[in-house]
Amino acid sequence: MAIAIVLVLLVIGSIWFHFWSPWWITPLASNWGDMDDTLMITFWVTGAVFVAVNLFIAVAVIRFRHKPGRKAAYEPENKKLEWWLTILTTIGVVIMLAPGLIVYEDFIHAPEDASVVEILGKQWQWAYRFPGNDGVLGNSEIRFVSFANSFGLDPDDPNARDDVVVASGELHLPLNKPVQMLLRSKDVLHDFYVPHFRAKMDIVPGVITSFWFTPTRVGKFDSACAEYCGVGHHTMRSFVFVDMPDDFQEWLDAQPTFAEILAKGEPGGGSKSAARGLEVAQEQGCLGCHSVDGTASAGPTWRGLYGKTENLSDGNTVEVDDAYLKEAIVNPNASIVKGFAAIMPAYQLSEEDLKALVDFTRSLSEGDDQSSAGGGPIEAGRQIAEEQGCLGCHTTDGSPSAGPTWKNLFGKNEKLADGSSIVVDEAFLQESIRDPNATIINGFSPIMPPYDLTNEQLDALVAYTKSLGSGAE
Ligand code: CUA
Repeated sequence: MAIAIVLVLLVIGSIWFHFWSPWWITPLASNWGDMDDTLMITFWVTGAVFVAVNLFIAVAVIRFRHKPGRKAAYEPENKKLEWWLTILTTIGVVIMLAPGLIVYEDFIHAPEDASVVEILGKQWQWAYRFPGNDGVLGNSEIRFVSFANSFGLDPDDPNARDDVVVASGELHLPLNKPVQMLLRSKDVLHDFYVPHFRAKMDIVPGVITSFWFTPTRVGKFDSACAEYCGVGHHTMRSFVFVDMPDDFQEWLDAQPTFAEILAKGEPGGGSKSAARGLEVAQEQGCLGCHSVDGTASAGPTWRGLYGKTENLSDGNTVEVDDAYLKEAIVNPNASIVKGFAAIMPAYQLSEEDLKALVDFTRSLSEGDDQSSAGGGPIEAGRQIAEEQGCLGCHTTDGSPSAGPTWKNLFGKNEKLADGSSIVVDEAFLQESIRDPNATIINGFSPIMPPYDLTNEQLDALVAYTKSLGSGAE
């Protein structure tokens, strides 16, 4: 009897929870209401089966409970029951599958007037390409793929030269315009997924997959890689912004064309050894874990690394010079930079290749004055927050994330995990960046790695945080 009651409560509780909590679908921001309908159909079919099976067990438990002298009847075959089960199961499966086939057919056939955007998945970043003013995506071939030309665009194809290439980061799209996404991979399986758009598609090496949708709401939407693609899989998280057409055009105009990227040349400048270093870095897969543009990854970025003073996990500091870099390649776990895991394998390279790698790394620090370029400390702070990946865990619009939002954070009275409280001031912010686990705000986990920034960078980050409003009462 107790079991029967538990089963009935389970059914009632599940239904109640479903209506009480919108737990499984983000608000819709595209034309794909059909996706939700399909999902709902599946949900109701499986939900009905769930209810029926549980109630059936509850009834059976009561009706056939143990009584002295009662014997179970053995009935191995029941034609009538089997027919019913077969027919009902078939109907249920057809109801679940058929709508999906219809919607999928629509999902992969873009309307004539759809614009085109190409997405390139690579370990572990997204890149985007828009056709230029001619409206045509230029030719690409594998043999043209290089560090600066990750799409492998043909430098001699005029259709390619005006293509707009967004090498990393975030995608913007105009409101209410149908757009066809073409998806390519440079290495392994990835999957481009934007839950709000109900849009998701595997990216398969050697194949171009596609889908289309029309964004129907202005806003910032999470995008993620939904196919495990290696240790950096989690860093393939980004955002799609849906803008008013004018804002979108303004953003697009600010992005470089392929011709402009070509003119800039490959990183490493003119040095032969540095150019060889880039080759070595690509051959050995270094760039899977070390970015060259300052973005956060599994290992320290190489941008601005040379000459920097790094804090090590054993409490010592070290200046990054030729000798340190060579050791860090040959025997990476001898000294680990604070905030990183000891996951790098040792590399055995020729003395020449080692020197080339070091030269390439050094070339990424020369004449580099990015963080203070124009815009004052607030803008510099915003750039640092982007480069260091802070915004992966801290929002600036008040929405919740893995870490506290920066909106109205400054001046706020925060409760700490140890029960005490603290006013967020400059000193607290600086400490939280350098040594985040010294004081943990109540309700958050101590998962933030320490960041080794210069005083100037810290001041800029604090200035940026302050610019996002005050939480003082
Ligand atoms: Cu790319 Cu997971």
